[in-house]
Amino acid sequence: MDHNKLALPVGTTLDRFIMRKQEDFPYATGELSQLLRDIALAAKIVNREINRSGLIDIAGAYGSQNVQGEDQQKLDVIANIRFIRALRNGGEVCTIISEEDDEMIQTGNNQGKYVVAIDPLDGSSNIDVNVSIGTIFSIYRRVSPTGREGTAADCLQPGTHQVAAGYVIYGSSTMLVYTTGNGVNGFTYEHSLGEFFLSHPDIITPKTGAIYSINEGSSDSFSPGVAAFVQHCKDQQFSARYIGSLVADFHRNLLKGGIYVYPATAKNKSGKLRLMYECNPLAFIVEQAGGKSSNGTRRTMEIEPQIPHERCPFFIGSKELVEKAESFIANDKEACDHTPAPEPTPKKAVAAK
Ligand code: AHG
Ligand code: MN
Ligand code: MN
Repeated sequence: MDHNKLALPVGTTLDRFIMRKQEDFPYATGELSQLLRDIALAAKIVNREINRSGLIDIAGAYGSQNVQGEDQQKLDVIANIRFIRALRNGGEVCTIISEEDDEMIQTGNNQGKYVVAIDPLDGSSNIDVNVSIGTIFSIYRRVSPTGREGTAADCLQPGTHQVAAGYVIYGSSTMLVYTTGNGVNGFTYEHSLGEFFLSHPDIITPKTGAIYSINEGSSDSFSPGVAAFVQHCKDQQFSARYIGSLVADFHRNLLKGGIYVYPATAKNKSGKLRLMYECNPLAFIVEQAGGKSSNGTRRTMEIEPQIPHERCPFFIGSKELVEKAESFIANDKEACDHTPAPEPTPKKAVAAK
């Protein structure tokens, strides 16, 4: 991929980078640029909350479950509120779908051209133990006419329609990594200046790698193909690395080369990860970085979503490793079936507005 035309030096601020990228598109109105800045602002606020989480009363369980029946942590709820508020105030987004909310969230900005899908806080189980967590987002252009609320059709577009996607990793440093379809760039947050600076220009993921990331605690219910692929990784003496925060596992493998797998298991029959909030945005990024993402048989971004909270098996990372995994599971019907999970019954979903 040649993005030299767009190259900007390391140390460029995120704001300037976004502005300069916009200049490469003469007809751009600046709304997407503003939307990306809104997300960066919310990321800074969430980053501040996370950094203080041991000191103030925001760690631990919130005492409720989200629509998918998962226990919500206080930071899940706080991050959801912060991102929704930033997107609502920004004005470019008509509708948001969030992992933490049952229903589509109408921002009231009916002129907004964009729709956002978001996992406001990824890696909930790691919040209280000071392990890297993240935020994942995906941006689509609405397909319905402006002037009214966004629709299900706006929110349920395949990943190939994404206009931008990214993640924030709150790790040993805080980084924002995003793509608008012209390569992938990473920005590191400088706390004392309150700015993201370009630190990882034009990220290209290695074609192959020697890391595999999968929760082997579920290995009893791996399909034969997935089990054989894991054995192959061991035979190759790959390193097993699994943080349990998708963003962190993905980020490491993106930079170093490797594969992340969350297959169908007995507990999660369609896989655990969510197509709209987790899989599609990371699939867009990995493809832009030269890698690959699949549900085992099919390119992640070509799956037609049926419901916002849909889950799918997930194989993502270095191209050669994802292709290797696909070859192992080619005859493995149950590992690759993509049957959307039925809409779960809402359990005390928190209206986080
Ligand atoms: P979330 O915190 O947004 O619900 O996501 C948790 C996900 C993902 O971050 C991680 O990779 C995966 O759950 C871990 O699941 P297991 O504990 O089943 O391995
Ligand atoms: Mn998540
Ligand atoms: Mn989450």
